[in-house]
Amino acid sequence: IRIFVPSDTTARSLGADQIATLIQAEALSRGIDITLVRNGSRGLLWLEPLIEIETDNGRLGFGPVTSNDVQTLFEQNFYLGQTQHTLCVGLVEQIPYLKNQQRLTFSRAGITDPLSLDDYLEHDGYTGLDNALIMTGQQIVDEVKTSGLRGRGGAAFPTGIKWQTVLDTPDEQKYIVCNADEGDSGTFADRLVMECDPFMLIEGMTIAGLAVGATQGYIYLRSEYPIAHQILTKATETAYQHGYLGSNIRGSQKHFNLEVRLGAGAYICGEETSLLDSLEGKRGLVRAKPPLPAIVGLFGKPTVVNNVLSLAAIPYILNKGGQAYADYGVGRSRGTMPIQLTGNVKYGGLVELAFGISLNKLMNDFGGGTRSGRPLKAVQVGGPLGAYLPENQWDTIIDYEAFSSEQAVLGHGGVVMFDDSVDMGDQARFAMEFCKVESCGKCTPCRIGSTRGVEVIDRIRAGERTESNWQLLEDLCETMVDGSLCAMGSMTPIPVQSVMKFFPDELRHERQE
Ligand code: NAI
Ligand code: SF4
Repeated sequence: IRIFVPSDTTARSLGADQIATLIQAEALSRGIDITLVRNGSRGLLWLEPLIEIETDNGRLGFGPVTSNDVQTLFEQNFYLGQTQHTLCVGLVEQIPYLKNQQRLTFSRAGITDPLSLDDYLEHDGYTGLDNALIMTGQQIVDEVKTSGLRGRGGAAFPTGIKWQTVLDTPDEQKYIVCNADEGDSGTFADRLVMECDPFMLIEGMTIAGLAVGATQGYIYLRSEYPIAHQILTKATETAYQHGYLGSNIRGSQKHFNLEVRLGAGAYICGEETSLLDSLEGKRGLVRAKPPLPAIVGLFGKPTVVNNVLSLAAIPYILNKGGQAYADYGVGRSRGTMPIQLTGNVKYGGLVELAFGISLNKLMNDFGGGTRSGRPLKAVQVGGPLGAYLPENQWDTIIDYEAFSSEQAVLGHGGVVMFDDSVDMGDQARFAMEFCKVESCGKCTPCRIGSTRGVEVIDRIRAGERTESNWQLLEDLCETMVDGSLCAMGSMTPIPVQSVMKFFPDELRHERQE
């Protein structure tokens, strides 16, 4: 009997380790022979810890399980596939939330043991690498171009074109850097990739190395993800032991080495040039572009810097072909987008779908509306630098261009929902305050502007000379947008301006305690 207990951060923070221990102890005391597998999460976070039992018809799920439920689960023979326990959610793959998704990147999440290379190989793993090993760098880059994949970190720059720049820049040493400093509020898709399917990321980076001629890769991982760190470190060791990393990969005479490096907790180190500074051992400070990292990157060498999700999409593309990926999506947004539903939502979790679904459908059909049951008031998409969308924009479809036409950003796919109890004035202040705290300090519009921004908002909210202060805030936002060196300063005004435009009364009015 195989029993699955997830090992990712969400499940563990909800007691999965203790549940695993109790299940083993209970099975032992009852003389039941079980194999306990620590799988990844399915991304249905409202059901975590979601315990699964293998049956002839598929995996049967029970969730959310607490330690107090373990005994009754055994009493009701859950391990034999009995379904009468109140926590039984039926066959996991039939749960509409999961069944109605189009999982390309997350196809193995929750199914496999993240640390089992055999599991990975049995589920299509490393077929993309096998294909890439007999292709030229240009052929690999062309396949990625065909896929239409765009940077999933938020900027949506075409991945194939970025790789082409690095391929075309001659140098003896090039690098692949994975940006795993997932810092946007409401996002966790990178973490799920790393904790639930780490070999996929390792495979994607290895293919990127073969494509552009880079022999060294680094995963720059935020230190707030200790479980991802453990899992990635072990998976990397396993890949080395089995010839999937290092010299002469799979007997091909091709080489790729990989290291995991930890950040130190600065949001700005998710910006690619300060990330490179940090990786070089310096304080993370934004560099002026040009030169682009693709030409002068880590230690001055041509470097591919890609987000986890971009690199994680590569094994599928090299396995099934770029066209198979491009067959999903709308307009210039090809493939799938892993959306992360969070905030005041009933069913929070990961929803991977082809581009084109509306925000409304996501929030209602998948999210089930607000958790509080109160009316939804605003949605912030794209992290702390994303716009607050009011009701008349909830029909916007998940598509980079559709969002920019609404002066909004899709970013890394975080969707944070707020009910009508939220004070939008507070949210506008929070955006400026966040920038004030996280600014790297290199340029004036961001360093000084964010501090003045907090002050002006406080004055407006205190009812002090509101109209002239309002004009001042507008001018300040404009200066930050036009004059900041990086996205931190130039995008902070986006949420502020959206509040000024769509919820002006809440910013003008005195704060209600
Ligand atoms: P950007 O538009 O400056 O650059 C995008 C990428 O394309 C960079 O890697 C850049 O080096 C590359 N690039 C541009 N032109 C190129 C060319 N001709 N050849 C090769 N490569 C080229 O955007 P940036 O500043 O890197 O990212 C801003 C985005 O980051 C925002 O849209 C925001 O949504 C997102 N973001 C994501 C966060 C997260 O946690 N995932 C956190 C904060 C912001
Ligand atoms: Fe640093 Fe802010 Fe300027 Fe970016 S915009 S370089 S974070 S001071």
